[in-house]
Amino acid sequence: GKVRAPTHIISTISDDRGEEPCYAGIPMSTIVEQGYGVGDVISLLWFKRSIPRYCTQFIEICIMLCADHGPCVSGAHNTIVTARAGKDLVSSLVTGLLTIGPRFGGAIDDAARYFKDAYDRGLTPYEFVEGMKKKGIRVPGIGHRIKRGDNRDKRVELLQRFARTHFPSVKYMEYAVQVENYTLSKANNLVLNVDGAIGSLFLDLLAGSGMFSKPEIDEIVEIGYLNGLFVLARSIGLIGHTFDQKRLKQPLYRHPWEDVLYTK
Ligand code: ACO
Ligand code: LMR
Repeated sequence: GKVRAPTHIISTISDDRGEEPCYAGIPMSTIVEQGYGVGDVISLLWFKRSIPRYCTQFIEICIMLCADHGPCVSGAHNTIVTARAGKDLVSSLVTGLLTIGPRFGGAIDDAARYFKDAYDRGLTPYEFVEGMKKKGIRVPGIGHRIKRGDNRDKRVELLQRFARTHFPSVKYMEYAVQVENYTLSKANNLVLNVDGAIGSLFLDLLAGSGMFSKPEIDEIVEIGYLNGLFVLARSIGLIGHTFDQKRLKQPLYRHPWEDVLYTK
């Protein structure tokens, strides 16, 4: 019989050996000619399948509304300082990306993990939040530097409105809203933030679309695919900030002494 030589790499998402590249088995000509969007491409390359239009539209909305949040946020600030130090596009981009993590933009996976666990175990918002407090863990997806109970994040509202209209079920999001109601009763800045909204709604997308088995959902949550949405989205804005600084011929940035507390 045939003896297969062992390979050093296994790959299952794309194939470039034929006449045209294929993403999860779909040829590029189909992708272009059938009018696939970036949400479809993300689904093919990340989830290895086509998913319903409302799901790819949701992914595209996440990408659009996380693309940028002005020059003052952690990522854009790093990118702007780096571009002004004369560095190239890739360096300016990655320095911004490197700020994405548990406090900034990278709380989506943990929000999904903790909300899913709490909901599936039937914890009340009180039990969940106070349990996290006992463990000394801030609830991922809750809290914002500038958004408040009386100045909600419009992005969160837009995601919620879309999902309430198009998703068959929004049970995880409704749970996150109940958690927010509880945290807001403790402090006005403890709103459901955009990471928490995406994390909980993606659970609803995975569970409600009928396209993912339970073990597949568990694997997606465990591996942590969802911060990828913020990384991908914010790259658009960080690239824009790099071009902006170059276009404006901004000089080397130096932080003002007056804004530093020099102390022993
Ligand atoms: N869960 C529970 N308590 C919280 C939370 C939270 N998520 N966030 C703040 N608090 C409480 C704590 O008591 C905190 O005191 P501590 O420092 O002793 O823990 C107190 O509020 C004071 O918090 P602030 O200093 O006002 O919060 P800050 O403005 O520094 O932080 C932040 C904002 C980083 C977003 C914070 O709320 C947090 O860590 N949230 C969880 C992570 C998260 O979801 N990040 C994504 C934000 S959205 C985005 O980046 C696109
Ligand atoms: C963002 O999208 O960058 C923000 O929500 C974080 C911030 O500080 O505004």
